[in-house]
Amino acid sequence: MKTSSLRRRHIVAASLVAAGLGLAGPALAQAPLVIKFSHVVANDTPKGKASDFFAKRAGELTGGKVKVEVYANSTLYKDKEEMEALQIGAVQMLAPSLAKFGPLGAREFEVFDLPFIFDNTAELHAVTTGPVGKQLFSKLETRGITGLAYWDNGFKSFSANKPLKTADDFKGLKMRIQSSKVLESQMRAVGALPQVMAFSEVYQALQTGVVDGTENPHSNLFTQKMHEVQKHMTVSDHGYLGYAVITNKKFWDGLPADIRTALEKAMAEATVFANKIALEENEGALAKVKASGKTQVYVPTPAERLALKKAMVKVHKEMESRIGKDVIDSVYKATGFDPSKL
Ligand code: LMR
Repeated sequence: MKTSSLRRRHIVAASLVAAGLGLAGPALAQAPLVIKFSHVVANDTPKGKASDFFAKRAGELTGGKVKVEVYANSTLYKDKEEMEALQIGAVQMLAPSLAKFGPLGAREFEVFDLPFIFDNTAELHAVTTGPVGKQLFSKLETRGITGLAYWDNGFKSFSANKPLKTADDFKGLKMRIQSSKVLESQMRAVGALPQVMAFSEVYQALQTGVVDGTENPHSNLFTQKMHEVQKHMTVSDHGYLGYAVITNKKFWDGLPADIRTALEKAMAEATVFANKIALEENEGALAKVKASGKTQVYVPTPAERLALKKAMVKVHKEMESRIGKDVIDSVYKATGFDPSKL
């Protein structure tokens, strides 16, 4: 979308906000404050369900003074556009994956993309709910963005039209990735050719052979029907994909205090909900992929997984100058990971 058209939408959005705050005269004073919440995945995913939950609770807890409109599945904006839309105020909330903050200049968030950095959700939560998570959010403020919460999706599997069991199997494959330099380096570490692409374009790119494979949590793969155009999937759990719910700082700081407090409560509840359903949504999606019979699902042996880990973990060192050694070390400290022990 062109910037000018984004700006036109911004003017409409800004007047809606003004109306909601009672700034547009007595006739409009009762109109609810509209918050546009845009995202790129299906409703039937952890993020889709959690944003709908937030919308419902925001309405309830503000006694109808706030109306959160959720735009799912890239219906309003695609990956890159939505970040710009948030910055100019055309939408008020997003929940981009943590892999999509690099282009904003917040490269530290790519620490979450480092392959095999988390062994399980408990390790991940030690980061997202602790001081490291808070510190990362503080990096967004200077970019006009306020971080509200971390929402889980899950660990990723690789998929392609051939079985992916060893690092060698990736050689020469064109693999779709999110806009993260860490993911680029991860794919190069096993000889694959990374291709950055918006989420909304992946199904078609796989179907037409523009790319050969990709990586996803199961809920994303299944709800976009990628299993229909990928013959093989490896449950590698090699990396994490989750979200930061973010808002436009100016908008957020300008809210009446009682409204902001109610929205913070709605967000806290939505976060508990998101993180509770994420695992079961992904397990359910995996079961459906298996039941479809369209994709052969392979679970690597511990030895195969370790070999893949050894092939990919060098990315941590390579990415020190981009992410910051201090940031990587603070994650290691929170999780207990020590790459020298591999
Ligand atoms: C992707 O682009 O693969 C994901 O970030 C989509 C999402 O929001 O889960």
